[in-house]
Amino acid sequence: MSAVSDTRLSGLTGLESIELGAARVQVDNKRMINCRADLNQLVPFKYIWAWEEYYLPACKNHWMPQEINMACDIAQWKDLTGLTPDERLIVEYCLGFFSTADSLVANNLVLAVYRHITNPECRQYLLRQAFEEALHTHAYQYVIESLSLDEGRIFNMYREVPAVAKKAAWALPFTESLSDPNFHTGTAANDQRLLRDLIAFYVVFEGIFFYVGFSQILSMGRRNKMPGTAEQFQYILRDESMHLNFGIDMINQIKLENPHLWTEAFQSQIIDLIKEGTELEYQFALDTLPRGILGLNSNIMWDYLRFIANRRFKQIGLLEQYPGVENPLPWMSEIIDLKKEKNFFERRVIEYQTGGALSWDDAE
Ligand SMILES: [Fe+2]
Ligand SMILES: [Fe+2]
Repeated sequence: MSAVSDTRLSGLTGLESIELGAARVQVDNKRMINCRADLNQLVPFKYIWAWEEYYLPACKNHWMPQEINMACDIAQWKDLTGLTPDERLIVEYCLGFFSTADSLVANNLVLAVYRHITNPECRQYLLRQAFEEALHTHAYQYVIESLSLDEGRIFNMYREVPAVAKKAAWALPFTESLSDPNFHTGTAANDQRLLRDLIAFYVVFEGIFFYVGFSQILSMGRRNKMPGTAEQFQYILRDESMHLNFGIDMINQIKLENPHLWTEAFQSQIIDLIKEGTELEYQFALDTLPRGILGLNSNIMWDYLRFIANRRFKQIGLLEQYPGVENPLPWMSEIIDLKKEKNFFERRVIEYQTGGALSWDDAE
């Protein structure tokens, strides 16, 4: 199929010239991808969940890294006996990974995903998410600065330290393929590429690659070590849980609207992708936990990662690939508050008005 007809089949971007006298947007014409209804009109809402469960609550959750007191962390870091060498390694590796990871996520959103998601209420949350990724990079920079770490060394870790570099290098090609200006959705193969990128970033990168680091730093916080850093991570984790759930809802909506994309072959590709991500994150656990500390060790991390991966498989409608694994870190679930994670397929159907108009006669 030629590039020209690809463009015709793909959705609008919102950059089209204004057509005077064009018809008003009908809610039934709105679609998650390949939508031809004007993208610059936020309403009428079709995916009310994007507004009510993500955009508005995310704005309510606003926070800033400077609001968190780092005094105790600074004292512990300076005190030669404040932390063990293994604990210092965890802090540095985690900051090394996260300080550039959120930039990779932001780039994926702004330079790749945003253009192809053809729904204004979802785009509204994507913009909020992109800002939150900036906030997270700011938080990591703030911790690095507070601890007077060598910022050049920490920020460059994703190009120097294999454990950190491997995860970043794994994710990058997904963004690259969609940010190609000649790439357009509208064919089954290209729509699958978009879906694969969404799964790679939301389900694997934000949904698995963050979890070893989060559990390590939060485990420190539970032991009154680096409490300010742990509090920063807690705020970030709250944002990330929403990013992950939003991504999953978006993925499932695309699947619902385009069932032909979810073929057996595609499903098995996705299963492999998530398994590969789980193994890569386990490698990060091995590299950052050479010895068991903070109530964590390599066996616990392997169980925890497989438990998390099972949740991810289920959330996008795939079978659990690691049956029977129990959660070895129930305190992490309490922090994340898993109860708030809603199952897309169990969500009540929210009725929206489809063209019913009020008349003055009825309004007495
Ligand atoms: Fe983030
Ligand atoms: Fe995120």
